[in-house]
Amino acid sequence: MKILAIDTSCDESCAAILDTEEPRLLADIVHSHVGAMKQHGGIVPEIASREHLKALPLAVNQALEKAGLTADQLDWIAVTNKPGLIGALLVGVSYAKALAYALKKPFSAVDHIEGHLFSPLLAELEGKTAPPFPWIALVVSGGHTELFHVFSTFQYKRIGGTRDDAAGEAFDKIGKLLGLPYPAGPLIDRLAKSGDRKKYKFPRAILEEYDLSFSGLKTAVNLQVKALGAIDDTLRPDLAASAQEAILEPLVKKIEQAQAMLGVKNVVVAGGVACNSRLRELLPGAYFPSPRHCSDNAAMIGLITHLRLKSGHLIADPWTTTATPN
Ligand code: KG4
Ligand code: ZN
Repeated sequence: MKILAIDTSCDESCAAILDTEEPRLLADIVHSHVGAMKQHGGIVPEIASREHLKALPLAVNQALEKAGLTADQLDWIAVTNKPGLIGALLVGVSYAKALAYALKKPFSAVDHIEGHLFSPLLAELEGKTAPPFPWIALVVSGGHTELFHVFSTFQYKRIGGTRDDAAGEAFDKIGKLLGLPYPAGPLIDRLAKSGDRKKYKFPRAILEEYDLSFSGLKTAVNLQVKALGAIDDTLRPDLAASAQEAILEPLVKKIEQAQAMLGVKNVVVAGGVACNSRLRELLPGAYFPSPRHCSDNAAMIGLITHLRLKSGHLIADPWTTTATPN
């Protein structure tokens, strides 16, 4: 079976084709809208929706070309229907439904967070192995920071997460305060390598259970930046390193707390912030998907569809499925 998977939950138009036979990925295309967002200093939802209108058909055609298939050779259409930017999701869901209708092929939807959560299993499509269950899993991106206790495929419990900003959002907004372009996460990661992590004492929110908070940190960095006056290249590395540490330290603490309290050894970290080199250094025993599959992609949406089909629990549900932001 050849599954076409689509993800348009945020600012990347993604299309992938998975062959369930081996299984393997025949194509994995991502069109980022970063160029269109840079001039605005962040994601503008309306612009993301309009970019998807242009980039999604291109991504799907490229995926078909890469896989050496024509649309009528597809057997199943899968799409992310939640959570995400509602306009962006609507473009993907409408496109996928229309394609399924035109091709008379089954259609089903996937939860984007579930995609990130089980993205470590993509390793198995490349002949590698993902860590065995159970996991403590952190999904950490521009839109989400959620901690899960994962018992097995599709058996999991959310145990905590951010009460306000996502960690990636904290990277991007703090980057903006430091005069860096969007998305600032990778730039802060790079700058921090030559900075002093202890130079500025930024706060870490200590919340009960497994909850996290980053909005206070953003305010603290803002106050520090104002106190310093003009921010230049001599100040940026120390500010970046100190702020990065204040974002990452609570994430690592909550993971370690969950490991100890729940008696779970294996840790997986997924989502865009999982590309961060310092986070990888702080969690040497954790499993991180390849950077390409940490960021948004449709391969993970295809994988979820394949796994659900294999377990016999997936029913094609074309006309009642809708896009929802949460
Ligand atoms: O998963 P993703 O591609 O999109 C969603 O938000 O769903 O994650 C993007 C986020 C952005 O906030 C970006 O700044 C952050 O991931 N990011 C990083 C790094 N690479 C991407 N944050 C810190 N360090 C990085 N190396
Ligand atoms: Zn994502």
